[in-house]
Amino acid sequence: MNTKKGLKLVERDEEGIDTAFRADVLEGLAQSQKAIPARWLYDEAGSQLFEDITRLPEYYPTRAETEILTERGAQFAALIGEGRAVVEFGSGSSVKTPLLLSAIAPSAYIPLDISGEFLRAAAADLAQKFPGLPVYPVEADFMRRVELPAEIVDLPKLGFFPGSTIGNMVARTAVDLLRSMRETLGTGAQLLIGMDLIKDEEVLVSAYDDAAGVTAEFNTNLIRRINRELDGDIPVEKLSHEARWHDDCARVEMHLVASEALEFSVDGRRFAMQAGETIHTENSHKFDRRTSNMLLLAGGWEPQARWLDSEGRFSLILAQAKPPRSAP
Ligand code: AVI
Repeated sequence: MNTKKGLKLVERDEEGIDTAFRADVLEGLAQSQKAIPARWLYDEAGSQLFEDITRLPEYYPTRAETEILTERGAQFAALIGEGRAVVEFGSGSSVKTPLLLSAIAPSAYIPLDISGEFLRAAAADLAQKFPGLPVYPVEADFMRRVELPAEIVDLPKLGFFPGSTIGNMVARTAVDLLRSMRETLGTGAQLLIGMDLIKDEEVLVSAYDDAAGVTAEFNTNLIRRINRELDGDIPVEKLSHEARWHDDCARVEMHLVASEALEFSVDGRRFAMQAGETIHTENSHKFDRRTSNMLLLAGGWEPQARWLDSEGRFSLILAQAKPPRSAP
C-alpha cells in the first residue's frame, strides 16, 4: 500500500486489488453506455504501450510539443525568468522536462505523481541530468491540492503539465484540476500547459488508430487487465478498437466494439453486450484559442503567451495565477 503522511493513495483489498479499479469497472459495465475511466489504461503494460504510441508516425502531439520546447526556450526564459521551482504534474517525461529545465534555469524541480515507482525513476533520471538542481519528488494525487515540500514553499513556482493530458478530462474535471493546481502553486505562480488543437478529422482519427495497431493494443490491454485482476472472462478477441471524432464535444473517443453478442463475467457479476455495442474507454479533447482560454480562465489561470509548432497542430500555453478575486 502506498502511503504518505498516513494518507492512503491506493487502497487495496485482501487480494491486493485496487478497490477503486474494481468499483469503476463494475459500475462502468453496468451503465447503458458502458464506460471505464481512462486512467485504468495505465498499468505497467499500458504505460509502456503509451510510450510506444508517442513514437508512432501518426501520433503527432509528442513531436509537436517537443518541437515547441526545443525552439522556444529563449521566449520561455524571458517570460518565466530564472529561479522558479518547477512543479511537474505527473512524473517527468524523459525528453520534455530537460528541455524546459535547460531553458529557464530553475531553483528546484518537484515531480508529483501518484505512482511512487514512476516518480522515483523520473526523479533519479533528472537528478543525474541536472547535478546541481535540488529535486524533491512528492507522491501525491494531484487532482487535489498538494502540500509542497517546506524547502520550496517560499520560492516562485512554475507548474508544468505537458502532453495535453488535460484533454483526457471532461470540462468539469479539467476545471477542478486547474483550480487544485492554482491552490497547490499559490499566488504569483505560472503554469505551462500543453493543449492539442482541433484539426482535420482524418489526421485526428489516425493519430488514435495507427496502422501498426499499437493504439488498438493499448485499448484492448484494459480488457486483459480486467480479466487478470478482476477475475474476468471477457473475450478480448471479440472487442475491436475504434477511434471516433465527436464533433460537438471536440474530442476523439476510444471505444471497444463488440463484434457479436457477448456474455461475460467480471468479479462474479454477469454482463452482456449486443453486437455493435461499445465500451467507451477514453476522451481526448482538442481545443482552439478560445476554448483553451476559456478553460484556463474558468480554472483560475490568465493566459499570458501561446506557442504553436511549425505545422500549427499543438499549443503550449503559459498562464499566470489569477488573484483570488479579480474584476470581471
Ligand atoms: C495521455 N494522453 C494525452 C493521450 C492522448 O493523446 O489523449 C493518451 C492516448 N490515448 C491514445 N493515444 C494516446
